[in-house]
Amino acid sequence: MGYLGRRQAKGILLEGLRHLEYRGYDSTGIATWEGTDFSVVRAVGHLDALIEKIGDLEICGTAGIGHTRWATHGAITEGNAHPHRSCDGKVVIVHNGVVENFLQIGTFLGAQNYRSSSETDSEVLANLIAYHCAKEDGAGGHSAFLEGVRRALLHVRGAYGIVAMHVDFPGEMVGARNSSPLILGIGDGEFFFSSDTAGFASHAKDAIFLNDGEMAHLVGGDFSICTLSRERVEAARRAVEWREALVEKNGYAHFMLKEIYEQPTTLRNAMRGRFSPDGSGTHFGGLQMSTRELLQIDRIVFCACGSARFACAIGEYLIERIARIPVEVEYASEFRYRNAPLDKNTLVVAVSQSGETIDTLSALLEAKRKGFRVMAITNGVGSSIAREADGGIYQHAGPEIGVAATKTFTSQVCLMAMLAIHLGRLRDLSCEDGTEMVDALQRLPSLVEEALELDDAVRSVAEKYAHCDHMFFLGRQSMFPVAMEGALKLKEVAYVHADGYAAAEMKHGPIALIGKDCPAFFLACDGRMLEKIQSNVQEVRARGARIVVAVCGDDRGVSSVADDVLILPRSHDITQALISTIAVQLFAYHMGVLRGCNVDCPRNLAKSVTVE
Ligand code: M6R
Repeated sequence: MGYLGRRQAKGILLEGLRHLEYRGYDSTGIATWEGTDFSVVRAVGHLDALIEKIGDLEICGTAGIGHTRWATHGAITEGNAHPHRSCDGKVVIVHNGVVENFLQIGTFLGAQNYRSSSETDSEVLANLIAYHCAKEDGAGGHSAFLEGVRRALLHVRGAYGIVAMHVDFPGEMVGARNSSPLILGIGDGEFFFSSDTAGFASHAKDAIFLNDGEMAHLVGGDFSICTLSRERVEAARRAVEWREALVEKNGYAHFMLKEIYEQPTTLRNAMRGRFSPDGSGTHFGGLQMSTRELLQIDRIVFCACGSARFACAIGEYLIERIARIPVEVEYASEFRYRNAPLDKNTLVVAVSQSGETIDTLSALLEAKRKGFRVMAITNGVGSSIAREADGGIYQHAGPEIGVAATKTFTSQVCLMAMLAIHLGRLRDLSCEDGTEMVDALQRLPSLVEEALELDDAVRSVAEKYAHCDHMFFLGRQSMFPVAMEGALKLKEVAYVHADGYAAAEMKHGPIALIGKDCPAFFLACDGRMLEKIQSNVQEVRARGARIVVAVCGDDRGVSSVADDVLILPRSHDITQALISTIAVQLFAYHMGVLRGCNVDCPRNLAKSVTVE
């Protein structure tokens, strides 16, 4: 966060940091310009710890910066928290990202007597800026501060979104970005910086999303944007939308629960206006591909991380089955460096709720660099991934505050089904089958509402397993990614060691772990696989595990061999995975709450992972 204006900065920074809390962090801090010097206060832990530390301190000033840190370089300590101050006391800086060559820069600076006191790469950057500013004389019409920052950044390798202030340039502030988001908010005679519009949306009217290699300079009640090579940039402004209701809990105990319950609405939003008039297909406004180009696609490669990757894995089943196009799902972080051979008709699709995950963004850029057409599926309107892609599909799920993906996951799965139908109808999917699938999608929100009625039943099941420290989630076909998502959710919000497996794989090794203290949660909702999964349930049960099953409709006796049964609504095959997800989301939520975990902000996790 950064603020420069006429109002007191402290409250605005703290409010902004509060709205950025959902991104996940472990320490915080602010610095304000008090007229003669900076006041810097930092604290380990959540924002309340910082507020308590500030207490009655007179933290004045109408310019300031603030930060929530998710530790990369150096432990979670006050000394490593931001803002960082250069050793000569001149510069304060907040920094997201990683300076990859910080050791080399640190060695160089050490020789010039600029030494760090923390373990962070960010303090090295503060020193580097101070060093270059000290050498600047302001000649050439540029602000010496801006020029010092620019020269410093020319030496940096890695990712950064920074905001900096300098003692000798009290009315100025500089922000810059490379691979880590930074947005300039423009209010009435005041300016803001934030890595997400949520940081200033209640104050600013307009926003400018900086591009990589751009710097924004605030001075004299105005702003300018230029590149690292000093070219002036005329950036487009976007209106800032502030929808307070979406970032409040609205009576729910946690954001995670609220967002689970929002899913009927977010699914309607994902589908709105995207069915073809004859009701047999789907269409998307932003693909930027002609029918001819869509028909030429002979392979799809999805790149994503975490839950988004599991949504892609469901997409793989759907697209291969419905559109008969081969699909591969890649860990975005691996794809970037793997140099995978792709042919010219491959469509690369980056999937990311935030649109800022650096691994996914880097994979997208790598595919683009090689000349491939790249599409994005994201909830982040105006995000880096949205802007870098050639075309794409917005999820329209609204802000997701809980760190664990819930509503954004199901909206991605819904869009996968819609994409499969779209590509299928251009190929061999009949009008009749298309119509049946579209009908299934239209019924989806009310079936999800029905699934949510299981909430109390799921809580009762969770009560029985809340003491367990290990758990397997098992499924076959499209239930397999649901199993992986269920395991990820449980790990994230309940700190239970969990694994999601293709049920038939158990006997190839993992079954060695099964026993009375390691229960298994079976997703048995794929009608075609019920007999097979029943055998898998028996194999696990025979080794003493307690069994939870989620079933729907006629389960061919699967539930009779389970300890606990959750009965979900039966739907069409293309929507069953999505409906089954509700059970594992609720289960993870209740397990987390019963185990006393902070389900909205789990330890060690960040919502937007902008480091590699
Ligand atoms: O913003 P993204 O969808 O790119 O995020 C990807 C993962 O970091 C994310 O899905 C993560 O696994 C979540 N914490 C899952 O709940």
